Amino acid sequence: GLGFSPEALGDTLGETAGVAEPAAVTVVIPTFNESANVRELLHRLTDSVPARLPCEVVFVDDSSDDTPAVISEAAQDCPFPVTVIHRESPEGGLGGAVVEGMKAAGSDWIVVMDADLQHPPSLVPDLVATGEKESADLVVASRYLPGGSRAGLAGGYRVAVSRGATWLAKGLFPRALRGISDPMSGFFAIRRSAVTAEALKPLGYKILLELAVRCRPGEVAEVPFVFQDRFAGESKSTAREGLRFLRHLVGLRTASPLARMAAFGVIGLTGFVPNLLALHALVTAGVHYLPAEILANQFGVLWNFLLIEVLLFRDRRHHRHWADRVGRFALLANADLVLRIPLIALLVGQFHLAVLPATTLALLTTFVLRFAGTEALVYLPRRDGTARSRTGTARSTS
Ligand code: GDD
Ligand code: MN
Repeated sequence: GLGFSPEALGDTLGETAGVAEPAAVTVVIPTFNESANVRELLHRLTDSVPARLPCEVVFVDDSSDDTPAVISEAAQDCPFPVTVIHRESPEGGLGGAVVEGMKAAGSDWIVVMDADLQHPPSLVPDLVATGEKESADLVVASRYLPGGSRAGLAGGYRVAVSRGATWLAKGLFPRALRGISDPMSGFFAIRRSAVTAEALKPLGYKILLELAVRCRPGEVAEVPFVFQDRFAGESKSTAREGLRFLRHLVGLRTASPLARMAAFGVIGLTGFVPNLLALHALVTAGVHYLPAEILANQFGVLWNFLLIEVLLFRDRRHHRHWADRVGRFALLANADLVLRIPLIALLVGQFHLAVLPATTLALLTTFVLRFAGTEALVYLPRRDGTARSRTGTARSTS
């Protein structure tokens, strides 16, 4: 279909690079309990990669089964070097594993693929050859190009979810994902020079999305592929992975301070819902409306706190104890209310603004102050530089 055979690869590479030795490739493969797949995978990789394409394979493993041992044994029959990095703490999940493997890669090209043979190993040389021929930084194996398909995506439900996720991501990141028809694909080749590992904050399955948005690779090419059925075992994806994906999207979208502030504002607005519900419940229960207002406001504050903790400041939570954070956040939120009235009085009385513009200005001012205050007083590292360890936090919350 593409006019690229593995045999043609050497010539293509030789021409482009101007040297006889073709670019080398590191195949990074994340594994989570794939002992029934890795032997077959290494066989097919051995059959697929021509001798003239120097290749190494790096497995990054978070398994609780004997996958690492099976890999080591099967690797003895491989013509190329095979490494297994076993992680004790599986931070970042699949994406975290891939980044770990990329850091260990020692070649110009990195190919990322799954271990369950849903990604055909025969395509590995094509991905690299296409990248060289089209001088691309990134080559995506896509299910959505003519000639590609998602035969292995079992059930209409998963197809619909995958479509929805693709559509959502493309809508949120139109520029970063231009030219990528399948940003949810887990099968791609990327030039190592295009990967800035320090900029990455992988979270779960969508590592290609993470790379495309945070590393902004230059030229992008695509190759169609058929997403096969799993060779053995079952998908490791769960409903929790879906929530992780949403958190991932918010994290990517709020990378700039301005976007964070906008998200902070949107979250703040959603706080009206629990606030009003609590007010209604309290007043119905016979509480006088003034103390009810103050009490109900705390429900909105708590709601906002939980959302910003999970969505905006997840990676900055560990600097303070959670009770400390709740206290500081609530103090800022209530100070906002208390400060607004004298500020409005000042703007009207001293600066002779009309009431509506004065109120608008006061609302905006206290909002920005509250955002800056939350960043600086709740989530910035303490000045003495001490960070609470994770285990410390866990102990004190139990
Ligand atoms: N190290 C590590 N840690 N590997 C993991 C983890 C983890 O937490 N979770 C999954 N993996 C490995 C699996 O062992 C497998 O090799 C690969 O990542 C893909 O996992 P699957 O569980 O088979 O994913 P999938 O088939 O549901 O999803 C695949 O296709 C999607 C497209 O529909 C992945 O490639 C997704 O990234 C892709 O979006
Ligand atoms: Mn799979």
